[in-house]
Amino acid sequence: MEFMAKAITKAVFPVAGLGTRFLPASKVLPKEMLPIIDKPLIQYAIDEALEAGISDIMMVTGRGKNILEDHFDHAPELEKVLRDRNKTEELQAVLNFPKVSALSYTRQQQPLGLGHAIWCARKFVGDEPFAVLLPDDLIQASPGCLKQMIEVYKEVGGNIVATSAVPNKDTEKYGILSIESDDGKLVRANGIIEKPSPDEAPSNLSVIGRYILQPSIFKYLQLEIKGAGGEIQLTDAIKAVMSDVTLHGFRYDGVRFDCGSKKDFICANVAFALARDDLRNDVHDALSKLIKF
Ligand code: G1P
Repeated sequence: MEFMAKAITKAVFPVAGLGTRFLPASKVLPKEMLPIIDKPLIQYAIDEALEAGISDIMMVTGRGKNILEDHFDHAPELEKVLRDRNKTEELQAVLNFPKVSALSYTRQQQPLGLGHAIWCARKFVGDEPFAVLLPDDLIQASPGCLKQMIEVYKEVGGNIVATSAVPNKDTEKYGILSIESDDGKLVRANGIIEKPSPDEAPSNLSVIGRYILQPSIFKYLQLEIKGAGGEIQLTDAIKAVMSDVTLHGFRYDGVRFDCGSKKDFICANVAFALARDDLRNDVHDALSKLIKF
């Protein structure tokens, strides 16, 4: 029977995390507002979602994250100054955010884990398949990772996670897939486990922060069962529904930067600069000089 995919139009962005790896920068500034060149991380993820055809976004925020809402709203004084000075390009840059009704916000009142953050968006999601984007995972790709995943979803349905191989020693930082079959691009998984030690890990294929999920995961999440690290894990919910919903890992075309890590944050800035016509040559020359010494 041919699978008829229901269009994915909703996306959930869990953005309640504290960003302790970026203190003191993230003491007041939400880590999602850290810039890759001149655009905050969160905006790359929003742009990726819009490119993939997402029309409704819910951010699951936490205390101290109000400026995320401000960022995606008008700044009348600034807009006026830019307009008066004919700074058209700059004006476009500050007006480039999803318009009214496309964005909504809810709060995760306690840091109970990624699964709990997603559960906070259950009313927004309703009974539809939806996407989840973790903005810390910045993926440089064209088309964007989520757009690639939605194309694959139209063929296979079910639950899909973005995946890439990690060094064996790093399995304890990720959700890890257990592989049933693998055609090089798409991995049919027969298990998934959150942050296993290298000894326990069934493979080295890690979950990267892009998901397409069926709403049935909420049945598990509402049970509030704690998993790895004492947190309610999205990984466990995906595992719990595996007898009814297939799970695939998708090897996207693109480069992923874990912008929660200092090294990848720096590399992301360099990689995105080298991809920009207005910066490539200058940044390349400056880096060559720096690296010499
Ligand atoms: C979360 C997920 C994990 C996934 C990772 C990707 O972990 O729980 O399964 O591999 O994101 O970035 P976190 O980074 O929040 O610890």
